[in-house]
Amino acid sequence: MGCDFQYSWFCIISQSSKKMKAIDTISISGRDVLPLVEGGKGIGVSDGQSSGAWAESGGVGTFSAVFADCYDDNGDLIPLKFYGKTMRERSKELMQHAIKAGISQAKIAYHKAAGNGCIHMNILWGLANVEFIITEILKKANNLIHGIVCGAGLPFKLAEIAAKYSVYYYPIVSSSRTFEILWRRAYSRFPNWLGGVVFEDPWKAGGHVGLSSAENPHIPENPYERVKSLRLVMRKYNLHHIPIIVAGGIWFLSQWQQWINNEELGPIAFQFGTRPLLTQESPISQEWKKRLLTLKKEDIVLNHFSPTGYYSMSIKNNFIKQLEKREKRQIAYSLEMNDEFSTRINVNNRRIIYIRTSDYYKTQEWLACGFKKNLFTPDGAIMFLSDNEFNNIRTDMSNCVGCLAGCKFSGWIDDEEIAKSIKSIPDPRSYCIRKTLDDIIHGKSIDENLMFAGSNAYLFAEDPFYANNFIPTVKQLIERILTGK
Ligand SMILES: Cc1cc2nc3c(=O)[nH]c(=O)nc-3n(C[C@H](O)[C@H](O)[C@H](O)COP(=O)(O)O)c2cc1C
Ligand code: SF4
Repeated sequence: MGCDFQYSWFCIISQSSKKMKAIDTISISGRDVLPLVEGGKGIGVSDGQSSGAWAESGGVGTFSAVFADCYDDNGDLIPLKFYGKTMRERSKELMQHAIKAGISQAKIAYHKAAGNGCIHMNILWGLANVEFIITEILKKANNLIHGIVCGAGLPFKLAEIAAKYSVYYYPIVSSSRTFEILWRRAYSRFPNWLGGVVFEDPWKAGGHVGLSSAENPHIPENPYERVKSLRLVMRKYNLHHIPIIVAGGIWFLSQWQQWINNEELGPIAFQFGTRPLLTQESPISQEWKKRLLTLKKEDIVLNHFSPTGYYSMSIKNNFIKQLEKREKRQIAYSLEMNDEFSTRINVNNRRIIYIRTSDYYKTQEWLACGFKKNLFTPDGAIMFLSDNEFNNIRTDMSNCVGCLAGCKFSGWIDDEEIAKSIKSIPDPRSYCIRKTLDDIIHGKSIDENLMFAGSNAYLFAEDPFYANNFIPTVKQLIERILTGK
């Protein structure tokens, strides 16, 4: 394994900590590693350097292959440029760049890990051309990557692709039901390459979360019961030995002792997404790191604006506040006059529509405040926007590079046949996620861009480990986590 050093220090820490149960190594992707995982974070928030550092320290590092930065073999950045005139052409260019970038991050991670721990690759199943991207990366880098982790949607094909390139696969689920569907329909044919199941708590984890329509975003459920139910399903299919990687809201392992060496739950590893943001190796900007140290509980919110259609957990900065305000400036309308919609208004001096009389005064207030531009939503509402909002939305929509399989914001659909038969109406209440995540990782405003964070991110300000703005290395963070603190 080449990781004896790490194991000896972690054993000492385990033994010397009176409060903490000893944390044993676990087999993940065929390697004996610490059961501590850095969760994948796009765009570029977990990269070759950060994931390599987690592996180097004996844990599991996950780089994101979602439109990562691409480096050549001399370490020079290959800029992402678009030449295509149509969205479809630009989507193909993005895909080719993503493949090269994924391979380049895998190389960085592999070299940094120096034979220790595990390197996993994370990719959003909802990306355009995702199967092709994964296949092409694995064709060239399957000797550098031990596992592939996929969330958002039902990644049925993941197992087949991973098995073909002898790489372990890890679906991300938030309920036992989702796992059972995946297993029965696809994964049961590739049991040997199922490396683990990532259980992400949809009420706590940073980034996109898997809340179903039956679940209330404001009423969290007990994660222990949900993981217990996942293990029951896994036992039904003889998967008692396969680790469940628990993610969402994990900070002090001393608070998770009940989960460690627990026969009811079986083998467990812990995944951290938010805590690793504040390490020396984390590629986010210094400004972003400083902001993390000042957060309060109420600064982190679940919202439903993502163009993927999923809820997501992020910091309530100006970016989210503006989306919240914008969303309020909408009212229902009808193209025909009827008893309910009886007040006539003229939209952009071009179109007559009818609104409820009770909404008329709102529209007059908005107009008086300068929200004079209008856009329609896919579900029969009209929005009132400032010139600035209107222009930004239109520009972002027309600059779409088709990054997702289906995008609520621009109405883009990756599948050409479906796109021909369905006219998808863009939703101006959403935003271009590729643009904003790309901007924030490349140093643009942390207040005007999307800043994902888990519900526990306010602990940076309270945890004495970070006193005096201390930013640990990944190795120091892992040592700290093992003490239970
Ligand atoms: C900034 C950020 C970006 C993330 N991006 C992704 C992503 O691209 N794909 C993914 O599967 N999970 C993503 N996550 C989720 C993490 O991998 C991890 O599962 C989650 O953050 C764990 O919960 P925690 O935030 O409470 O630690 C992201 C999380 C954060 C904080
Ligand atoms: S609008 Fe942005 S997020 Fe949506 S598909 Fe286009 S590039 Fe992706």
